Amino acid sequence: MAKTKTTFFCQNCGTQAPKWLGRCPACGEWNTFVEEVITKEEPVAGNWRPAGATKQAAKPKAIHAINYEEQERTLTPDAELNRVLGGGIVPGSLVLIGGEPGIGKSTLLLQIALGLTDTRVLYVSGEESEQQIKMRAERLPAPVSDCYIMTETSTQNIFRTVEHFEPEVLIIDSIQTMHSSLVESGAGSVSQVRECTAEFMKYAKEKGTPVFIVGHITKDGSLAGPKVLEHMVDTVLTFEGDRHTTYRILRTTKNRFGSTAELGIYEMQGTGLRQVTNPSEILISQRDEALSGIAIGSMVEGNRPLLIEIQALVSVANYGTPQRSSTGFDAKRLQMLLAVLEKRGGFRLGQQDVFLNVAGGLKVEDPAIDLAVCAAIVSSYEDIAIPSSVAFAAEVGLGGEVRAVHRVESRISEAEKLGFKQIFISKYNVKGLDINSYKIKIQPVSKLDEVFQGVLM
Ligand code: TYD
Ligand code: MG
Repeated sequence: MAKTKTTFFCQNCGTQAPKWLGRCPACGEWNTFVEEVITKEEPVAGNWRPAGATKQAAKPKAIHAINYEEQERTLTPDAELNRVLGGGIVPGSLVLIGGEPGIGKSTLLLQIALGLTDTRVLYVSGEESEQQIKMRAERLPAPVSDCYIMTETSTQNIFRTVEHFEPEVLIIDSIQTMHSSLVESGAGSVSQVRECTAEFMKYAKEKGTPVFIVGHITKDGSLAGPKVLEHMVDTVLTFEGDRHTTYRILRTTKNRFGSTAELGIYEMQGTGLRQVTNPSEILISQRDEALSGIAIGSMVEGNRPLLIEIQALVSVANYGTPQRSSTGFDAKRLQMLLAVLEKRGGFRLGQQDVFLNVAGGLKVEDPAIDLAVCAAIVSSYEDIAIPSSVAFAAEVGLGGEVRAVHRVESRISEAEKLGFKQIFISKYNVKGLDINSYKIKIQPVSKLDEVFQGVLM
């Protein structure tokens, strides 16, 4: 009989402590320590094979003696997913897809499972019944595929099944519902989630079968989050988006087989997730006449340039303290830009309410949209519309100077592709740029005034 022992784990980051702590010394979160039973004398973690399976001890090898061939990747019908994975599914890789409940992780994976024709996919669900999954599948566009569904939560039972079933892709939805008999604590606890992941990792590596694992992220820390697993898996994808808008972003946060600067965009529809191949078109609202307070900025998300619409509304504050409200853009940065406009541009914004909105429900951190934000605010303040064929791509400094941004060529090309006629960039970005090779008119500026004189006078 194995001796039982308990340890305290932080449910947020997985830090282990011998006694309860109010605040996690590693991640700084409060009240996240939970006591868990760990079994001391059981076999090593990650042993998915029943007892008796032995492996020879590994020997050191000279690096030039190691044979390496580019592995054949499986391309899914989903181009966005292929891109975030770095060019398709790598054999034997373990991919974690994290996201808040209800964001669409199960939908995405089921859609991929159904779309992988000629590939034997096993979708193991610990959350929904077979009927529920079937019901969901009915809503999705479903090419005929070799997709099998199983509802199971015990990892040992799963491994017993896959041993003879031999799927070519294994999907586990979700890791927080799985439990391994090697660990005593309940499903969803740090030690369970870790042990189960280690078992799936070992399985993936030994069999060469790619495994996708769904991990829920909960704010209150009631479930061990994907954070505790990030170091174990090969690839971490985060599925994010605002639940009230239909756009979803699939972002690579870690990838052992590709770049982490990739990103996929989807739209949640009644019939599943649709890939958005040309995001700029949907992020810019169609309008016939030019309205004041709207400016088009250029942001780079991952490796993709996107043009987005910035909307501002400036109106006299009638009720005491002026309000500043911002959706999708950092509120502190908005305050700063307002101060710059007041001090350097001479606009009296101190007694005005300012509302700012990034269309499409995206959150933008790229400082290259500063100039579009300033332009939208001034356009609304002066009530003069900016021509809809103008785009902006520059950062604004505290001195009212227009600063250079990275990847300016791709921003210009994207604006050109979408039919914009004119783009404002910093004059410090012009070096090395062949202005005349573009059809779009490139307007280099160094001060905010030049921009306003250019479009708002
Ligand atoms: P789900 O995939 O169950 O999320 P998760 O696995 O991340 O918890 O999320 C599904 C949500 O998406 C649910 O609220 C219903 C909605 N949905 C659609 O809008 N269209 C669809 O075709 C499907 C299948 C779901
Ligand atoms: Mg789900």
